[in-house]
Amino acid sequence: MEEELIKLQTNVSSLIIACDDSDELENIRENFLGKNGDLTEAIKRIGKLPADERPEIGKLANEIKTTVEEMLQDKKKNLSGNATNTIKVDAIKKLDITLPGAKPPLGHLHLITQALEEITSIFEHIGFARVRHPEVEWDWYAFTSLNFPENHPARDDWETFFIKEGIHPKKGQMILTPHTSSGQVREMEKGVLPIKMLNIAKCYRRQSDVSHSPMFHQFEGLVVGENISITHLKGVLDYFVKSYFGPNRISRIRPYHFQFTEPSFEIDVSCGICNGKGCKLCKAGWLELGGAGMVHPNVLKAGNIDTKKYSGFAFGWGVERVLMMKEGLSLEDLRILYSNDMRFLEQF
Ligand code: DAH
Repeated sequence: MEEELIKLQTNVSSLIIACDDSDELENIRENFLGKNGDLTEAIKRIGKLPADERPEIGKLANEIKTTVEEMLQDKKKNLSGNATNTIKVDAIKKLDITLPGAKPPLGHLHLITQALEEITSIFEHIGFARVRHPEVEWDWYAFTSLNFPENHPARDDWETFFIKEGIHPKKGQMILTPHTSSGQVREMEKGVLPIKMLNIAKCYRRQSDVSHSPMFHQFEGLVVGENISITHLKGVLDYFVKSYFGPNRISRIRPYHFQFTEPSFEIDVSCGICNGKGCKLCKAGWLELGGAGMVHPNVLKAGNIDTKKYSGFAFGWGVERVLMMKEGLSLEDLRILYSNDMRFLEQF
């Protein structure tokens, strides 16, 4: 009986959907819900079913009845509305040929792309030029020219993706670049000074857990010129922090170690929740942002730059990280950013 009822509903629904005439719609109603209609007949037979089946089948029949009544009602409205609409639209069309067309739904840029554009525009205001360098890169640019020793752990198979085929006699193994710092020596090789580069790119590391994805984005600033000092670096960092996070935020630098900068720093930004006083979210008022430092002389030399005349600073960090810090987003799993789940993406 259940099957029979569902079949009846399917049939009558398709008839209602296809119907484009009010008289025909009345016929459909009569044949289904009228005195001798299909559903009415079926309901009469429910009384003869075994007692334990009756309540459930009765409930189903009632639900079907309500649904079909609603469909008939809607269709009826539609048919009468359409008739007047057609007349109105026909009349207007004769008068106004500039009627706008129907607007298709519009999407928007991915939230990481939005962040990339915002970061680019902030740095462009103080003269940084956005550049692109290869994501499939030689070991030389990603490690050796940046002062990494042969046995540095970043070169481990478990850290970096190596490409089997590519080995260059001088530049070594081919890899997927693990950081945007690989753009530093490439930029120096262009031979144009001073340099004010902003390199934004996809980076790759052998990592996949709730707070890491194997592909992520970084941006890298590099300035090389005459008389460049830590003061300039600090000024640029403060400018970025205020422009991106808000005018009340400040930055600080702490001594650290990176192979390709000397001295090296970690950069923190004051916490936006407690304004630097210290709260649950931050470590005593500060949140970690990324790395920076004065370009190591060995790196300048690798890029054929005269270390007596020129100096520089560099900084770099993850786009996903700053975006989440700015939006106060704490994602249960960062990889959702790249899962193409519309329910998530539509929120931005
Ligand atoms: N490349 C570093 C990383 O991926 C980040 C970094 C640190 C970039 C210091 C820099 C720098 O330019 O000066 O962890």
